[in-house]
Amino acid sequence: MKKGEAGILIGIVVVVVVTAVIKNFYASTQEEDLGIPYFSTADITLAKQARKLFRKYKCYDCHSLWTKRNIMQSVPAPALDGLGSLKDEAWFYNYFSAVNPQAIVPTRLKKEFQMPSFADTPEEERRILAKYLDSLKVKDWYLDETKKRKFEKLTGTDYVP
Ligand code: HEC
Repeated sequence: MKKGEAGILIGIVVVVVVTAVIKNFYASTQEEDLGIPYFSTADITLAKQARKLFRKYKCYDCHSLWTKRNIMQSVPAPALDGLGSLKDEAWFYNYFSAVNPQAIVPTRLKKEFQMPSFADTPEEERRILAKYLDSLKVKDWYLDETKKRKFEKLTGTDYVP
């Protein structure tokens, strides 16, 4: 091997080794980005219908969903993101149809801040809301975190899994 060739070979080896070390270093310092844990399985039609009802019944006055809520209000209602992973469509329909929702989800809030009854609204609307709420999912890796927050918000006591 000539002197020049050996130099080139050493050069290549150095570049390869340095690249591998740098790559490894960054891989170990950066945590994997898991992204936003919430998603919806609703199609566009359902999402639009639900959004309309959310405005009509002012759900955003008390609840947040997709970081959206009425900032002029300060009702400490639970966020609705990911709720469909905790309850199902039948549960939501039943809840929205209840004359006394507090018999299903207990509360520690003043009457004016509590979840209103939607028992008198058209059945079709309650079905749409139930279907949409059911479509709001949370990814598995975030589910326990969600359960914990919901529990503590509703009961004011620590969550023990
Ligand atoms: C006046 C404020 C207010 C409005 C308006 C309101 N909610 Fe609520 N909601 C609450 C509160 C507070 C709770 C927690 C239970 C309680 O305190 O009654 C709740 C509970 C819920 C729950 C159960 C949450 C859980 O973690 O189990 C769902 C689902 C829900 N609301 C959906 C809606 C939808 C959909 C609308 C609009 C159609 C709406 N809410 C309108 C205040 C409100």
